[in-house]
Amino acid sequence: MSRIFSGIQPSGELHIGNYLGAVRNWVALQSQFESIFCIVDYHAIIGSFTPEDLRRRTREMGISLLAAGLDPAHCTLFVQSRVPEHTELQWIFNTITPLGELERQVAYKEKAARQEQVMAGLLNYPVLQAADILLYLADTVPVGEDQVQHLELSRVIARNWNSRFAPADAPYFPEPKPKLTPTRRIVGLDGNAKMSKSLNNTIGLLESPDDMWAKLRPAVTDPARVKKTDPGNPDKCPVIFELHKAFSPPDVVAEVDANCRGAKWGCIDCKKVLFEHMNAELTPIRTRAQALAEQPALVDDALNAGAEKARVIARQTIAHVKEQMGLA
Ligand code: TRP
Repeated sequence: MSRIFSGIQPSGELHIGNYLGAVRNWVALQSQFESIFCIVDYHAIIGSFTPEDLRRRTREMGISLLAAGLDPAHCTLFVQSRVPEHTELQWIFNTITPLGELERQVAYKEKAARQEQVMAGLLNYPVLQAADILLYLADTVPVGEDQVQHLELSRVIARNWNSRFAPADAPYFPEPKPKLTPTRRIVGLDGNAKMSKSLNNTIGLLESPDDMWAKLRPAVTDPARVKKTDPGNPDKCPVIFELHKAFSPPDVVAEVDANCRGAKWGCIDCKKVLFEHMNAELTPIRTRAQALAEQPALVDDALNAGAEKARVIARQTIAHVKEQMGLA
């Protein structure tokens, strides 16, 4: 049976884009596969941050993930830095990763181009990611399109290690494959770019209904619709129609489509229907998050128990790797 691993940066509260693009999928997968999910704080210290802020964002991410439906009874959820084997395996992998493979990673090139001084951690980011996955011998990684190249590198690393340190007929590390998230990427409220905290165009997963409505109301729609009587084209409505497809049931999506093309609903009517369906899914999540925020010890306990579970596997992998390499 497949083992799933995925990671998310501790960016604080989840936004709707992260939720639809990753976490909702994880919640569905946890009951079908053995699943391990990780808040990757070692990845997050590449770049500027303050310790207090990192601690807060890590806890908030834990709350968001638990509230969204990750259930410690069905998956393993933990914080990366609590399992030291991640960095232990990363060092080993650094020694079998060709520099050229790292330098041609698009994510690296884009980030490095914007920085005056590039730290080694930025270059080595995908090696840590490979260690995250392979430490658990995971073969399936639910991620978005932007992570496909990083996973290619994980496969190179798995092959390199296997070819040097495992018998030819019994490879040890699997070659992990991406499992692309079904929801298309969610555009931010400005309609121009991917929803992203740094672009300030997000809807927070835990935002109040009032705040959410204050963002939906003015959000861009098909520019051809100036008056209610102008027929519209839902395919040119990048935010609201996409959110309908993500949150509203199929019959409602069909109704939205017809009423937009037929100029029967104004955009505000359409947004009200969306608002209702978003709240139907998000209200229980907000309620759970509220309860967890009031009991931070529960969140810490859940994450610590997750780290203990993860370490049982992580220790076995490291022991085997060291044994094969003459390090033990
Ligand atoms: N690089 C991933 C991202 O930015 C996060 C991540 C770290 C990850 N380690 C991982 C994802 C392992 C999948 C598997 O989204």
